[in-house]
Amino acid sequence: MTGLLEGKRLLITGVITDSSIAFHVAKAAQEQGATVVLTGFGRMSLVERIAKRLPQPAPVIELDVQNPEQLATLADRVREHVDGLDGIVHAIGFAPQSCLGAPFMDAPWEDVSVALQVSAYSLKSLTQAALPLLGRGSSVVGLDFDARVAWPAYNWMGVAKAAFESVNRYMARELGPEGIRVNLVAAGPVRTMAAKSIPGFAELEAGWADRAPLGWDVDDATPVAKSVCALLSDWLPATTGSMVWVDGGVHALGM
Ligand SMILES: NC(=O)c1ccc[n+]([C@@H]2O[C@H](COP(=O)([O-])OP(=O)(O)OC[C@H]3O[C@@H](n4cnc5c(N)ncnc54)[C@H](O)[C@@H]3O)[C@@H](O)[C@H]2O)c1
Repeated sequence: MTGLLEGKRLLITGVITDSSIAFHVAKAAQEQGATVVLTGFGRMSLVERIAKRLPQPAPVIELDVQNPEQLATLADRVREHVDGLDGIVHAIGFAPQSCLGAPFMDAPWEDVSVALQVSAYSLKSLTQAALPLLGRGSSVVGLDFDARVAWPAYNWMGVAKAAFESVNRYMARELGPEGIRVNLVAAGPVRTMAAKSIPGFAELEAGWADRAPLGWDVDDATPVAKSVCALLSDWLPATTGSMVWVDGGVHALGM
């Protein structure tokens, strides 16, 4: 049986530990036949070590989405490993401490601007940098946390995610005519390094499993990873600018 992503060449950002959502996406994608190139930020030797734990050890290239030089050379550095790309996964989020946890009103613009650049604007920066490698039928997928509402502690990261959702829609407009789809997976809470750095994450995740009609396991990123793979595949060919909830169904409920 051929895999869902047989022959697909994917650029996957956001691996930092083996609990990273991106790690699970890379694993599931390789299991479905994809060739994966990872990008790492900052702690490169750690990312390289984690990359060796994938079913097929994946090459890692450095990318800080705030670094114009690294963005400008990204396509050439990816080309050293693959001759083009069929998909990109954006799994990047960061906000300075003042942006997470109360009081919301105290975060200075210098910190908020970092959260917005790294967590929202970077969907554009990353895709633009890789655009020379993307052809018709390719797919860009980002990881979102539903930003239609205000959550405890999520604060300016929530504002950044609201911007991210809007960037997704505008990019879908712009890249649709080139045959490139852009979509988000709005995941329920998963215990990763980024999640644990949110002071109120315990409050956020509390009760999710009980509320979710399908149930929810905060220690299992596999459902999110599989859904990202579905969007990277050829099986949602007319879907762009969308947000697919992978949260056990919590988003659909009132009380
Ligand atoms: N964990 C959750 O509950 C959850 C839920 C919904 C959405 N998400 C989103 O999933 C994505 C991945 O996060 P995760 O939960 O797997 O945590 P994680 O800590 O494993 O991954 C976050 C990644 O962002 C990278 N990053 C930070 N600043 C960067 C920069 N300047 N340039 C490039 N990379 C940078 C880090 O190196 C890290 O790999 C994030 O966008 C996050 O908001 C997470």
